[in-house]
Amino acid sequence: MSTPRPLIAGNWKMNLSVTEGAALATGILSRLPGRLSADVLLLPPFTCLSEVGAVLLADSRVALGAQNCHWAESGAVTGEISASMLSGLCQYVLVGHSERRQLFHESDVIVRTKLESVLKAGLCPILAVGETDEERRAGMTADVLTRQARAGLLGLTHEEVCRCTVAYEPVWAIGSGAAADFTDIEEAARILRLVIEEAARGEGDGVRILYGGSVTAESAPSLLGVEGIAGALVGGASLRAAEFCGIVAASDR
Ligand code: PGA
Repeated sequence: MSTPRPLIAGNWKMNLSVTEGAALATGILSRLPGRLSADVLLLPPFTCLSEVGAVLLADSRVALGAQNCHWAESGAVTGEISASMLSGLCQYVLVGHSERRQLFHESDVIVRTKLESVLKAGLCPILAVGETDEERRAGMTADVLTRQARAGLLGLTHEEVCRCTVAYEPVWAIGSGAAADFTDIEEAARILRLVIEEAARGEGDGVRILYGGSVTAESAPSLLGVEGIAGALVGGASLRAAEFCGIVAASDR
């Protein structure tokens, strides 16, 4: 099976003012190599989407995405942003990040309805999945990944599955400074690939599986070399232009 072109995505989480966000995007563009062997994506907070999008007009190689959305199209939901409101502003939307699942009690069902709303809005979902430390210790990793990925992907049309990216983010590795072991990541990618192929009826080769959890410029070359992994979802390290571009450069293989 051919590995898809890698995607390096920077999840800025709840950080940066509008001015700081635009400055970071400018800093990233100025450091990107002339020839890119990965697709690059920035996921700023909603408040920065417009300004960062304006900066990115200077380099069509860098895409823009949101970190979350509401599942409904519109309505009386104070403080929320729908996927259809994001269309025209960005191309990708992250759903199911573990911080959303844990802090905002987002179930597999909620994540699925969000993912469907992203597809309906004509955007590309990034479905984040991953086991907690407790689940890992209990030997439940394979079950959790299969359940979360199936809940997100099964029953979609082939075209819809192909518009998705799946991010494997072991919850315990996020922000911990220690990424998961290569063998565990490879095994997780193998499990997720089975679900992708199940959902895409054997034709899901182009669907990327990213790894996320304490990726740095230093760890990226080996993490991006893990069998079955086609890119990274980067949190903390994506807030530093040089570090993030170091991760992008590491995808050159
Ligand atoms: P981290 O976060 O790179 O800071 O571990 C990754 C993520 O939450 O997407």
